[in-house]
Amino acid sequence: MNILDSIKNDLRKATRKQRHRFRYFSMATCGIHGHVKQRMLVLRDVADDFTLTAYTDSRSKKITHIKENNEVSLLFFDPRRFVQICITATAATEKDENKVLDLWNQIKPRSRKDYITDIPPGTVIRDPSGVGHQDNVHYFTVLRLIPEKIEYVKLQKIHHLRILFVREGNSWNSDYLVP
Ligand SMILES: Cc1cc2nc3c(=O)[nH]c(=O)nc-3n(C[C@H](O)[C@H](O)[C@H](O)COP(=O)(O)O)c2cc1C
Repeated sequence: MNILDSIKNDLRKATRKQRHRFRYFSMATCGIHGHVKQRMLVLRDVADDFTLTAYTDSRSKKITHIKENNEVSLLFFDPRRFVQICITATAATEKDENKVLDLWNQIKPRSRKDYITDIPPGTVIRDPSGVGHQDNVHYFTVLRLIPEKIEYVKLQKIHHLRILFVREGNSWNSDYLVP
């Protein structure tokens, strides 16, 4: 199996296994004024064409940033294997309402509260227990992250490994880089 396929398999495992090191990743965004922000997300799905899926609230800052600038940087890290995966991706929200509804219906009721707060994420509050939830509306948003470049780095005793994969239509070119 080539390294790109093994990266895909590994990321897929992370969507199923709670304790997998790639289950949580950092996504950096850059808004129109050049403000950079990063935050952790849960990896929910990896499609055959490598599109990654995450869930969020439509009112969050990341959505504002993505509307202003859809290029994002994703970072995965496995400290046990000394592996870093850095992905440059184009971000979009899923527009097919049936797909969104289907995923929403698969979310456990107790996890739905993350997407139905009565005031938007990032609002200043006095007391964390004072956040209310709505029953009749949700802000659940499915983020699709389409990788353009995938950079794999593995620290090893003899030769560190650094490989850059660049999407060319439906296939990927790869080059070794100086680590
Ligand atoms: C371990 C961990 C996992 C998280 N997973 C998600 C997630 O899947 N989706 C999400 O919207 N926020 C998630 N968050 C919260 C975000 O990191 C972030 O604080 C929140 O989404 C607001 O980000 P924003 O204001 O930059 O948009 C997670 C936080 C942690 C610590």
